[in-house]
Amino acid sequence: MTWDFIILGLVLAAIVSVFVSTLMTAASPLPTSAAVRETMMAMLPADIDGPIYELGSGWGGLAVALAGRYPASQVRAYEVSVLPWAASRLRALLSGPENLSVRFGNFHKVDLSDAALVVCYLPGPAMEKLKPKLAADLKAGALVASNTFALQGWTAADEKTASDIHMSRVYLYRVA
Ligand SMILES: C[S@@+](CC[C@H](N)C(=O)[O-])C[C@H]1O[C@@H](n2cnc3c(N)ncnc32)[C@H](O)[C@@H]1O
Repeated sequence: MTWDFIILGLVLAAIVSVFVSTLMTAASPLPTSAAVRETMMAMLPADIDGPIYELGSGWGGLAVALAGRYPASQVRAYEVSVLPWAASRLRALLSGPENLSVRFGNFHKVDLSDAALVVCYLPGPAMEKLKPKLAADLKAGALVASNTFALQGWTAADEKTASDIHMSRVYLYRVA
């Protein structure tokens, strides 16, 4: 009986933690679909020369795929919601890949100046908030790939529609 209450308490705490962080960041941990991931991967160059940052990595599926595609690059994934972060950290610890690190924290506090590629799937207001940081931190030639949400006012180097039910747009930017 006691164990039932402990497990129920943990499950409720996990659900509440996801709910609270969704309210705080205005971004739920909804993962990028396989169709969008495929479209994004097809838009990215064969080689990425430098670290890759995933800003708000959720459950880690996209980060694992990026690390697998670019074994010579460090993939640095940041997530601020405890449950998705813990799940993706555990997944990375158990099965790698070795070039992936999943870190708990607010990506606004991370220096992106060495990024070769930044990947995100964040709603419009979060993208607006991120825009000045990308403009300040990123070096010329750095790429930004975004699922669904454009960087308003930036000109995309490439733009494609995925074959999912939402016909999601995928945007690729290159910093001038
Ligand atoms: C829509 S999910 C995308 C997950 C993953 N990037 C993907 O495409 O599968 C957005 C994630 O960003 C996280 N997030 C939002 N703002 C954040 C911040 N400032 N720092 C770290 N993570 C953040 C949310 O907690 C959420 O898990």
